[in-house]
Amino acid sequence: MDKQDTDGLPANEVGAWTQEKHERLRKYVDSSHGARRRFKSRTCTYVDLYCGPGRSWIRETGVFIDGSPLIAFDSAATHGDQFTEILIADARPDYVAAAEKRLQTRGAKVQSFRGEAHAVVDQVIAALDPDGLHFAFLDPYNLGTLPFSVIEKLASVKRMDLLIHVSAMDLKRDLHNYVRPNGPDDLDFFAPGWREHVNTKRRQDVVRQDIFEYWRSLIKSLGTSPNDCIEVVENSKSSDLYWLVFVSRHPLAHKLWQAIANVSPQSRLF
Ligand SMILES: C[S@@+](CC[C@H](N)C(=O)[O-])C[C@H]1O[C@@H](n2cnc3c(N)ncnc32)[C@H](O)[C@@H]1O
Repeated sequence: MDKQDTDGLPANEVGAWTQEKHERLRKYVDSSHGARRRFKSRTCTYVDLYCGPGRSWIRETGVFIDGSPLIAFDSAATHGDQFTEILIADARPDYVAAAEKRLQTRGAKVQSFRGEAHAVVDQVIAALDPDGLHFAFLDPYNLGTLPFSVIEKLASVKRMDLLIHVSAMDLKRDLHNYVRPNGPDDLDFFAPGWREHVNTKRRQDVVRQDIFEYWRSLIKSLGTSPNDCIEVVENSKSSDLYWLVFVSRHPLAHKLWQAIANVSPQSRLF
């Protein structure tokens, strides 16, 4: 359920664990400030294709917190190496409008796109400096709204690092449906060709892991690398909620991710 924040704009409801995800985003943006400094004369862009409204409220406590685009913007300011531009998109136009307003209020230069990630990704890429330095955060609710084509297109940009939220919960909860011969096609969007590469007769946790590994292999085939250090965030019952996967071509970016991943007591290496 959405609530109105004090600025009169919507805030979406989230679980307390969202703060883990935000912490990783905050830390990576902060720790990569040196790379942005080296690109000062060009553009350094933050891209958020599932940006949400820019503010959320925590179900368990009622506390209001910043959402990903505002976190990225504020974190980039820490060492004075701000993104030159923030590109946001979301399937909900009211969320995009709210996030844009909130970013502008804090002084950000924003370009906004309304629509589903697969529909806007080409426009977003066309708006990027091909020689710039870019960082995209992909934070969908579920696997069906994270088509591989979006990752493929973003990864075709020369200097594009990605932090991707993969819903482990979705894979767990709906695996029995996905593996049915005529089941929902969400996984076909997420990891095209998975049926030819995963033996669905194995134990469910193995199938889950095999699908995830197949998806990582698809990313590798694009000429970029998913880091082996996968951040796992669990709920209070110790079930995996999601995996955070960092993807880059650049060894230094991987080093930075490894230094900040897995720092909370709750998380562990995959
Ligand atoms: C987990 S929330 C994003 C939260 C935000 N990244 C943050 O941390 O504050 C997922 C967002 O994806 C949006 N969404 C759902 N389906 C989408 C799609 N196919 N393409 C783009 N956005 C979508 C929802 O409206 C929602 O705002």
